Amino acid sequence: MTVNGHEVTTTVGPTEALLETLRHLGLTGPKGGCHEGECGACSVVLDGSVVCSCLVLAAVCADRHVVTPEGVEAPDLAEALVEHGAVQCGFCTPGIVVSASVLLDRCSETGDRPDRSRITEELSGNLCRCTGYCGIITAVEQTLDRRLVRRGR
Ligand code: FES
Repeated sequence: MTVNGHEVTTTVGPTEALLETLRHLGLTGPKGGCHEGECGACSVVLDGSVVCSCLVLAAVCADRHVVTPEGVEAPDLAEALVEHGAVQCGFCTPGIVVSASVLLDRCSETGDRPDRSRITEELSGNLCRCTGYCGIITAVEQTLDRRLVRRGR
């Protein structure tokens, strides 16, 4: 498979989760939270879609493209999250960055400007125990607004 743009060849067990494989590869961005697909801390992008890496069998990822939090290039989002106090313990942050970056990239491309409730819904697969979500949603909104302005939309 390809992980963050690099081809990786590895051997996996028949019941091994992608999260486990990524850990073996030294990637600690995806966090093992609930291991049931509920919290989103282990979110990664698999062929363009956000998935919980704890629920995906590594064996089905052969020849596919995986992006982990380490591979997300969104310094503007990171800056906005810090600016709005949207990072406290930080356990949820890598998963939120993965989900938000997919949303931001899609909207930046199409010019779509989701309102707060739609952003909240789009990020509903990522649970945060600390922040109350307001700062997270504001950071995503602000990042999108800035990207749309930069693109003249
Ligand atoms: Fe602690 Fe989100 S910042 S769980």
